[in-house]
Amino acid sequence: MDRTMRITDLSISDLESRQAVLQGEYDEVKAAKLSLDLTRGKPATAQLDLSNELDGILEGFFLLQDGTDVRNYGGILGIPEARELGATILGIDSESVMVGGNSSLTMMYNYVSHMLTRWQEEDGTIKFICPVPGYDRHFTICEQLGIEMITVGFTDDGPDMDAIDSLMASDPMIKGIWCVPRYSNPTGHSYSDEVVKRFAKLGKSAGNHFRIIWDNAYAVHHLADTPDRLTNLLAACEKEDTSDSVVMFASTSKVTFAGSGISFVGTSAQNLSDFEAFLSTQLIGFDKVNQLRHVRFLKDADAIKAHMEKHKDIVQPKFAMVEQKLDSALAGKGVASWTKPKGGYFVSLDTTYGVADEVVELAADAGVKLTPAGATFPYGQDPDNSNIRIAPTYPPIAELDKAMDVFVLCLELATVTHLITA
Ligand SMILES: Cc1ncc(COP(=O)(O)O)c(C=O)c1O
Repeated sequence: MDRTMRITDLSISDLESRQAVLQGEYDEVKAAKLSLDLTRGKPATAQLDLSNELDGILEGFFLLQDGTDVRNYGGILGIPEARELGATILGIDSESVMVGGNSSLTMMYNYVSHMLTRWQEEDGTIKFICPVPGYDRHFTICEQLGIEMITVGFTDDGPDMDAIDSLMASDPMIKGIWCVPRYSNPTGHSYSDEVVKRFAKLGKSAGNHFRIIWDNAYAVHHLADTPDRLTNLLAACEKEDTSDSVVMFASTSKVTFAGSGISFVGTSAQNLSDFEAFLSTQLIGFDKVNQLRHVRFLKDADAIKAHMEKHKDIVQPKFAMVEQKLDSALAGKGVASWTKPKGGYFVSLDTTYGVADEVVELAADAGVKLTPAGATFPYGQDPDNSNIRIAPTYPPIAELDKAMDVFVLCLELATVTHLITA
């Protein structure tokens, strides 16, 4: 039997002999009692080490040029130098930027919470559009705040804009949409110029106070020599007179220290001042000492680019390994399709026969932890039981090698078993 044949071309007896081989391999792997992890997209220790210079970089100098002492209270919008840094990353003016603490997710949660009271002035259930597969923590924010989620799929260019337009035209209670516009989590999509232009127009057809949550978490996280381009949404919105409809987010979590970076919010002057007022009931200012450290360390666009090249040198071989393992074990078999991202932190794989949960379970029993099946969909429910997110960055390459072998084995075993019993 040809091991690379399309699985659907195999007879039941061929499938059964293949299953016996795979089961034998699986039993051996299980006996090895591995403990490997392909779950969360965290930077590897070697990536964190790239920013160790942050420690002690201030050498006791805490004063800004304007005399501000960063150790003291105040300045919710952030220090001017850090707002400038955020402006560089988000590609907008520094007056449109607020600098927050270590988590952009916290800023997103706060932003959505702060809009709730306005949205609640209208009668009806508040809804968000969620392009899927997407980032689980976006969906958890909606779930926790009682916001109903409506899913739309992707085209090659980004979210399905025709579907979005028609949903928006029929429902003024759609108050937001989650977007990861560059190297999307987990699909790796970067939105095309045309898609961004269509996003800029959404504010015109939307009901009151509609917000595009533009989570540019992977703005500078390129894996290829020619990065995906991304049109600036805020500039496009300015042309359409819809600037209030966009709120951009980013952070240095995967640039410097994931647990101790700084975050950025970019939006219109009105939105920024409303959000500042909202936040001022919970804090007097974010960590300005850390903002200053980041300014000293990341400096400007060229320095950020050079720093991200070092990340690429660590991360890219891991993505190459994932691709090579998937290609060599699965290409042409018809068991799955997967993405080949040019940046970001994930590879997204769709099983052909809806066996994602079986694959995750088999892998777990063999000592390889995968993100739970369904996690990339609202309420944890993937209607096709097909999507699996692979996060290659954290494990050392030798572990990734082993984990991917187990993964492809489990994927084929689950598929063959499914076809025999279907
Ligand atoms: C799309 C996306 N947004 C936000 C985050 C979290 O960002 P932060 O560490 O700034 O909270 C992640 C982390 O995986 C992510 O993938």
